[in-house]
Amino acid sequence: MDDKEHSHDVDGEGENSSTDKLRVKQEKKNMKKARKKAAKNNVNSISTVEDTPATAAAKQAELQEKVRMLVNQLAIREAIQPQPSASSSQRQKDMSSHKFWSTQPVPKHGEIINDNGPIEENTPYDQIRKDPYLLPKEFEWSILDLNNENELNELYTLLTNNYVEDDDAMFRFDYSGDFLKWALQPPGYKQTWHVGVRVSATKRLVAFISGIPADIRIYDSHQHLVEINFLCVHKKLRSKRLAPVLIKEITRRSHLEGIFQAVYTAGVVLPKPIAKARYFHRSLNPKKLIETNFSRLPQNTTMSRLIKKFKLPSETMTPGIRPMQEKDVTSVRILLNEYMSKFNFVAVFETDEDVKHWILTKESVVWSYVVENPLTKKVTDFFSFYCLPSSVIGNPTHKTINAVYLFYYAVQESDEKAIKGRLQALIKDALILAKLKNVDVFNCLDLMENKLFIEDLKFGPGDGYLNYYMYNWRCKDMDSGNVGVVML
Ligand SMILES: CC(C)(COP(=O)(O)OP(=O)(O)OC[C@H]1O[C@@H](n2cnc3c(N)ncnc32)[C@H](O)[C@@H]1OP(=O)(O)O)[C@@H](O)C(=O)NCCC(=O)NCCS
Repeated sequence: MDDKEHSHDVDGEGENSSTDKLRVKQEKKNMKKARKKAAKNNVNSISTVEDTPATAAAKQAELQEKVRMLVNQLAIREAIQPQPSASSSQRQKDMSSHKFWSTQPVPKHGEIINDNGPIEENTPYDQIRKDPYLLPKEFEWSILDLNNENELNELYTLLTNNYVEDDDAMFRFDYSGDFLKWALQPPGYKQTWHVGVRVSATKRLVAFISGIPADIRIYDSHQHLVEINFLCVHKKLRSKRLAPVLIKEITRRSHLEGIFQAVYTAGVVLPKPIAKARYFHRSLNPKKLIETNFSRLPQNTTMSRLIKKFKLPSETMTPGIRPMQEKDVTSVRILLNEYMSKFNFVAVFETDEDVKHWILTKESVVWSYVVENPLTKKVTDFFSFYCLPSSVIGNPTHKTINAVYLFYYAVQESDEKAIKGRLQALIKDALILAKLKNVDVFNCLDLMENKLFIEDLKFGPGDGYLNYYMYNWRCKDMDSGNVGVVML
């Protein structure tokens, strides 16, 4: 239970990812097969019947027509059927083959839900298991102290070498130590929710799972719950059912704190997503993205044309835009909570402390900007983006892609046309600011109102998806445009 899927460009105007290429290849193969089959029929029919030249020609024409129709049907079928999922991780297993998840309080695949509430009652304190779950005998639990440089570094190393990769194993998230502290030590964090597993003999850290306290609103229900993230098992220990033990242990630790619901995201499809979001990518440094195979050079263009296409102005354009300062915290909190009130599933920023922690700029971790009305001096809008590079696996020239991800934002307009115009201007400024920080790619999901700017600002669809889940909660599922929870 946890985090995201790594994603890269699918077709920012023809820049096909390898998965997309495979699909195209398969389609071509199918068409070829259809043509061959039809041609074979053609040969058979001609050879079995003695025809006059005129009837042979008519038959030939008829068969050609059949071939054409067959090929068309095939193309139509492929166009109307849901495309084969871009990533293998998007496949859904039968409920019965979810040996672990079928035992947990989560909705089943295919279940239609119209209510909004917990699946099971809270467990009374005296019935909550007080001892940690048993690990295989070679391993032991270890609560990490991220204020200790060595332990932070151990976590950094585990994740940098073993955390989320794309389906083709070309890129792996590379969260920095400062980022991990930001993500795991918000106001009210509990060190007992930073749960590691070590090899008893060597004390080497080989697995991790974390929880942080969070406030969310799901439809009309406010929940103080735990947000689960950074589930990771060392590559050499995969498929040994360690993940379920980690998940049960963090659940037990949440129960001990009186919390019985969780929110988490995953690239993989588990029972049962509340929403499914797609990654989108905006090239800022197309040359490097192509050199690293993050994107592909479209067949009908040249590098210089591509560079021109993604070129941005060298300065921001919104009057009154400036870096967010501590004095803006309360305004940003009010703005953000008001803006989020239109969505069904959102993070709630209860206190100024929350906003100070999550939104205020922390260099090379998260950057935030506000727009101050030059006349009234009131903050009218804000946006933020966080910094999450990816290691490029096995590339001789480039070790890292500098990526940022759109985080929270808010605008004040109320009709869709005005929101669209404002958002396009703001996110364009965000792209310009990111480019000035030497960022290679600006990423976002199709959450909130992101669909209003994605296309116009030249974001291309990625091959990664992110599924949103809640533990011990049942509710109606929703479109990604109703989600306002951005997980790191
Ligand atoms: C995710 C990861 C910890 C799973 O460990 P694993 O060794 O592959 O799987 P295990 O044998 O321990 O456990 C398998 C169970 O965990 C579930 N599982 C796998 N990935 C999961 C995830 N991201 N969240 C929740 N459950 C997950 C499986 O569905 C399976 O349960 P099921 O039989 O009920 O379906 C491991 O693959 C990993 O570290 N991957 C790289 C980092 C990563 O992707 N983290 C999660 C980000 S979403």
